[in-house]
Amino acid sequence: MIDKIKQHIEEAQAFNEKNKEALEQFRIKYLGSKGLLKELFAEFKNVPNEQKKEFGQVINTLKSVAEEKVKTIQEELENKEEAKGIYGDLSRPGEPIVLGSRHPIALVKNQIIDIFSTIGFNVSEGPEIEDDWHNFTALNLPEYHPARDMQDTFFIQTNPDILLRTHTSSVQVRYMENNKPPIRTISPGRVFRNEAVSARSHCIFHQVEGLYIDKDVSFADLKQTLLYFTKEMFGKSKIRLRPSYFPFTEPSAEIDIYWGLKTETDYKITKGTGWLEIGGCGMVDPNVLKNCGINPDEFSGFAFGMGIERIAMLLHQIGDIRMFFENDVRFLEQFKSSI
Ligand code: PHE
Repeated sequence: MIDKIKQHIEEAQAFNEKNKEALEQFRIKYLGSKGLLKELFAEFKNVPNEQKKEFGQVINTLKSVAEEKVKTIQEELENKEEAKGIYGDLSRPGEPIVLGSRHPIALVKNQIIDIFSTIGFNVSEGPEIEDDWHNFTALNLPEYHPARDMQDTFFIQTNPDILLRTHTSSVQVRYMENNKPPIRTISPGRVFRNEAVSARSHCIFHQVEGLYIDKDVSFADLKQTLLYFTKEMFGKSKIRLRPSYFPFTEPSAEIDIYWGLKTETDYKITKGTGWLEIGGCGMVDPNVLKNCGINPDEFSGFAFGMGIERIAMLLHQIGDIRMFFENDVRFLEQFKSSI
């Protein structure tokens, strides 16, 4: 009998099946209410007295071996379960990472920033909700100035002094107020105009404006800077500056680049002329410098402004400006491979 129990002990010790069902069977077999140990304990009273001590020891050993076994395997199984919860099946191949794509406006903006930072321009930003001073008055557009009509403005109804900026020239005013020349900065950002939305214009768009102020800055510097930009951005090396008017620059010009007339699209976007307007520019009006605390007798400078949507439409052959704001993933996905 005792030998038989010792054999059970060995068997129990050898048990090593790591699954729930087998473990449960093992538990029932040894420790269950109709299990082996129950039987053996019941048998105890029939054991002759001189064997009782040894018999008691072996069945106790069997009991603790069986209990210990159940406990350790159970713990192991639980740990495994937990690890599965956290990591899943570690042998499975990895999930592919879904890559997002940058918005085309952000891509073009970053490209513009890269091009200008190469020649020493930093990036400045300002608030989209502006006051009259920074958007108009400081820029040589006092109250009732007719040129205010050039930019249809969204005003905050309860306070006519507060508006949504119509251009990022407001950032340049802030920059001049807070920094001494030499100044070389570009200000990219979102601007707002109360215009009817169509394929060619939108009430929200993005601009990047540039400002360079130092001693003896000339119109030739402006032209060279714009030429450098158009070469880098479009690979085009022919530009034209057409006389124009902006209240904050004197003289002022529209920037045209020669796009060419090679394809049908070229004809379409340049209206058959080969020339394409990409923005405005000029020498900063001395009044503007004065308004921003810079002495116009000592310093001069140039400024320019361009629409980012316009440039993105040209580069990526996008026919409708509204696409940029609809955020249709079928449109956005196409820019995945870009930087
Ligand atoms: N701020 C002008 C606009 O939004 C563009 C511009 C900037 C023109 C700087 C000249 C100089 O139309």
